[in-house]
Parts: sequence; C-alpha cells; structure tokens
Amino acid sequence: MILVLNGPNLRRLGTREPSVYGAETFDDLAALCRDTGRKLGHHVEVRQTDDEAELVGWLHEAADGRIPVVLNPAAFTHYSYALRDAIAQRTAPLVEVHLTNPAAREEFRHTSVVAGVATGTIAGFGLQSYVLALHAIAEIKRSQP
Ligand code: DQA
Repeated sequence: MILVLNGPNLRRLGTREPSVYGAETFDDLAALCRDTGRKLGHHVEVRQTDDEAELVGWLHEAADGRIPVVLNPAAFTHYSYALRDAIAQRTAPLVEVHLTNPAAREEFRHTSVVAGVATGTIAGFGLQSYVLALHAIAEIKRSQP
C-alpha cells in the first residue's frame, strides 16, 4: 500500500490555471497513480484535502502504519512547519512531488520546509512527477523490503 496525498487546490486540476498546471483533472491524476501502482504491484490510495489538520492526520496514519507516501503538499510546502514535523515522524519512504518546478517560479516557492525531512523530491514533470515517485518508492521497497 502506498498513500498519495495532495494538499490544497489540487482537486481543481484541469480548471485551475491550466496554463501552469495543465488540462488533466484530479481524477485523471488519481487514475494514473492507481494504474501505476497496479503495474508495480502496490495498492495505491489517492487522497486530497484543502485542510492542513486533515493532512497532518493522514501523515500520522502513515507514520503509525509505516506506509510509504507520495506527497504533493501544494502551497503548504512553503510554510507549514506542522506538516514538516508530521513528516519527520515517519520511517517509511516519503517522496515530495510537484507538478511544476517551484525553483523556476515565484521566489516564495523556492523554499520548501518539507524537503529536508523527505526521502527525496521530484518536481517539474507534470503528472509524470507522481509516476516517477511511485517508481522510486517501489524500487526502495524492492531493494529493502
Ligand atoms: C505545486 C507547487 C506549489 O508552489 C503550489 O502552491 C501548488 C502546486 C505543484 O504541484 O507544482 O499548489 O505543489
């Protein structure tokens, strides 16, 4: 089982600034993640919330269950110390993902307060960022079961 967790505004993919985030919808993203999981032999559960407390709760669930996570923290990336502290409690791999490359965008997006407690970060490849992250987790699980 791998959790794919998404932060604020990501449910609006497809209608949200399509010139920045693309035309594909959140349902497209969820289907792609589940499909990638099936091919890799892992059950993938995709969730989205606009609520910081709910996201923190899901990260506690992942920490307690030692469940690997693909996380797009969205805007929380740049300022949520609560999210960072929740991620720091995990022992299973966690890959931070972004559709866009925040380093190539506005200055406030250049800081990630969660990157330092993630296993690694994949950014800038659109929906493929999630596919790459799922492959990375599957490979870690394969090499250190
Ligand atoms: C994002 C980048 C963030 O800066 C932004 O706040 C988002 C989406 C991305 O996936 O590119 O909501 O995480």
